[in-house]
Amino acid sequence: MPYEIERLSVHADGIAQGAEGRVYVAMALPGEVVDGTVEAGRIAAPSIVTASPERVKAPCPHYRACGGCVLQHASNSFVERWKAEVVENALAARGIAAQVRAIETSPPLSRRRASFSGRRTKKGSLVGFHARASDTVVEVPNCQILRPELLATLPALNAATVLGASRKGEVSFALTLSEAGVEVAATGGKDMEPALFQDLARLAEEHDLARLSWNGETIAARRPALQSFGPARITPPPGAFLQATAEGEAALVAFVRKATAGANKIADLFAGCGTFTLPLALGAEVHAVEGEADMLAAMDKGWRVAQGLKKVSHEARDLFRRPLLPDEINRYDAVVLDPPRAGAEAQVGEIATSNLANLVYVSCNPVTFARDAERLLQVGFALDDVIVVDQFRWSAHIELAARFTRA
Ligand SMILES: C[S@@+](CC[C@H](N)C(=O)[O-])C[C@H]1O[C@@H](n2cnc3c(N)ncnc32)[C@H](O)[C@@H]1O
Repeated sequence: MPYEIERLSVHADGIAQGAEGRVYVAMALPGEVVDGTVEAGRIAAPSIVTASPERVKAPCPHYRACGGCVLQHASNSFVERWKAEVVENALAARGIAAQVRAIETSPPLSRRRASFSGRRTKKGSLVGFHARASDTVVEVPNCQILRPELLATLPALNAATVLGASRKGEVSFALTLSEAGVEVAATGGKDMEPALFQDLARLAEEHDLARLSWNGETIAARRPALQSFGPARITPPPGAFLQATAEGEAALVAFVRKATAGANKIADLFAGCGTFTLPLALGAEVHAVEGEADMLAAMDKGWRVAQGLKKVSHEARDLFRRPLLPDEINRYDAVVLDPPRAGAEAQVGEIATSNLANLVYVSCNPVTFARDAERLLQVGFALDDVIVVDQFRWSAHIELAARFTRA
């Protein structure tokens, strides 16, 4: 029985109404008519009866099998419009009429962080991404998302899998590209013993990895895994948060700097290792608040030797349990918020009763952003500007930056 796709779900599945109720359809677009077997309310492998004019040939040869991307069958303009609409709809559900002004999409081959899975096989090893809704590992040597430097580590990861994966288990490799090369944090492999340590250390040398850790233990730290934030150079602790693409980071930093131009004192909340703090310190004194003390220590170390920056202070603080209070917020001309997916409900609650007039909010979750925006508008803020910064091209993930002001 054919199904007509009405719209996309938040996971970018097509949604159709069938005799059995709502049906989710993988890799389908609004307006398309599809057919296929419904299992547990979902068609995983639809055949397209009538294609949308927005349908394109997926640029990646692994797209059908790999579970990393979900929107490569759609034109770039469709994906951009859809992401903007998800943000606008989340705001509209809170009674806020706003339009996304711009969308800045990172180019292909730009993601500088990735998590690969490694398994031992009869022939040797298999390293790649998981297939959709499956624990099968798919090799992705021609992935169109990742920076080539990350893909170039696949031989090293295969060798590490042969050395250190248990017979049935899976090793997870978290990769970060730094200015000094690729850092690999492996977890889930065999317990460490001297021979494995030596073999992995040799592997890090042979494959020129900047840093390698195994189940949390540092095996090789051959070069500091540097990142530049403004004029400062930071060595983030292993696994620390980093914006997913350099282009996305640049777009967010530009937005945050423009929205706070003229401020002399800024609080950067959920500051990480100082992605915004340090560029903002080119023009203002900045107080960085973040839950992870080691991220702040890395930032502070970089700030101390950087040239041309104003004062940067920092504070390790749980902003969910102990948000900045109104009299603390009132010390600043502007506040930057960049919380995790849960949003910043407690902090926004305190901002509501402060005198703050200028707030920049960077969010990776339109739903919690809209909840917090509703509260801000209730207390006199206006939502002046909102943009989407798409660092997660071809995925359903959405990231945005917004500016709120009040008289
Ligand atoms: C989306 S990241 C943003 C980091 C930074 N602004 C950047 O762009 O690199 C969110 C940050 O919030 C921090 N965080 C998470 N929960 C927190 C909490 N309850 N209190 C303070 N910081 C928290 C995380 O450690 C992470 O660094």
